[in-house]
Amino acid sequence: MIKKLENHILYVNKFDAQNIDEIDSFKIKFLGRKGIINELFSDFKNVPADQKKEYGQKINELKNLVSDKCEKLTLGIKTSSKSITEDYTKPGFPISSGSLHPITLVKNRIIEIFSKVGFELSEGPEIEDDWHNFTALNLPKYHPARDMQDTFFIKQDPDVLLRTHTSSVQVRYLEDNPPPLKIISPGRVYRNEAISSRSHCIFHQIEGIYVDENVSFADLKQMIMYFTKSMFGKSKLRFRPSFFPFTEPSAEVDIYWGLETETDHRITKGTGWLEIMGCGMVDPNVLQNCDIDSEKYTGYAFGLGLERIAMLIYQIPDIRLFFENDVRFLNQFR
Ligand code: DAH
Repeated sequence: MIKKLENHILYVNKFDAQNIDEIDSFKIKFLGRKGIINELFSDFKNVPADQKKEYGQKINELKNLVSDKCEKLTLGIKTSSKSITEDYTKPGFPISSGSLHPITLVKNRIIEIFSKVGFELSEGPEIEDDWHNFTALNLPKYHPARDMQDTFFIKQDPDVLLRTHTSSVQVRYLEDNPPPLKIISPGRVYRNEAISSRSHCIFHQIEGIYVDENVSFADLKQMIMYFTKSMFGKSKLRFRPSFFPFTEPSAEVDIYWGLETETDHRITKGTGWLEIMGCGMVDPNVLQNCDIDSEKYTGYAFGLGLERIAMLIYQIPDIRLFFENDVRFLNQFR
C-alpha cells in the first residue's frame, strides 16, 4: 500500500499542465470528494498497524504536494499567458499634446500684426517702482488718477509694487533708447479689483508707443485702423475724447462691431459700438521725464486689454475662466 502511495507521489512530481483546465482536472482527480486522497484515507483502516504512521505521513505529503503543484502551475500559466496577450508592437497610449492659452494666442496675433509695420518687442518687469509705474508717466503722488489704479504694494517708501499697466515699459524703453523708437510691450498687470465675471486682479495688456519727429494724431488713427482691420476685419472707428495722464490729447477707441446677431446686441449693449483701447499723443512731460527733447520729438501711444479682446473673439463670458486652468476650457483652443 505504501508502494501505491509512492507511485502517486512520483506521478504528481512529474505532472505538468498546458492550461488551467488540465490543472483543474488534476486537482479534482486528487483532492475532489471522490478523489484519490479521500480514497487513500478510507483505505487507512486496511493498513497494517506497524505501517499506519508512515502511511499517514505519506498521504499528507502527497496532499501538500498536489496543492503546491496546482499553485505553481497556475501561476506559471497566468504569467506566460500574459506575455502572449501583451502585444509590444501596439502603439502606446496617446499622450494628448497641450495647446496655447487663448491669451497667448491673442497676444501672438497682435505681435504679428504690429511686427509687420516695424514695431519691436520690449518687455518690462511685473514688479515695478513708483517712478516707472506712476510718477514718470505724469501721475505724481497724490494725483487722483492714481486711485483708478490701486494695486498691491510690496514695499512702501520707496514704493515697490505690482505694475498696474504695461505703460511702465514705455518709460523703461524711453529712458534707455533715443528716438526714433517703435515698440509694443505685452505683459501681465495687476490691480486691486473686486473679482467678477468682467474684472480680475490679474490681467494682460499690450502697449504700443512710437516716438519720432513729426508723429501726429493722424498717424495714430491710421495705425489703429490698420490694427482693427487686421485683427477683426473691421475698421469703422470712433475716437472718443478721454483722459490719461500720460497722453495729451487722449482718446478711447470704439470699433463698430455691428448689430447683426443677438450676441452683437448683447456685447455692444444694443449700440453696435465696442470700446477696445485707450490711446493718445505722448504727453511732453513723459518725454522730458525720460530725457527726450519734447520740442523735437512727438509720439503716440496706445494700450489694450488682452482678456477683453480674447473674450470678444472667442465669445468667452467670464474673465475668471482664463485663470482657472480648467483643461475642459483650455482644450477648446487647439
Ligand atoms: N495704461 C492705460 C490703462 O491701463 C491704457 C493706456 C491708455 C495706455 C492710453 C496707453 C495710452 O499707452 O496711450 O488703462
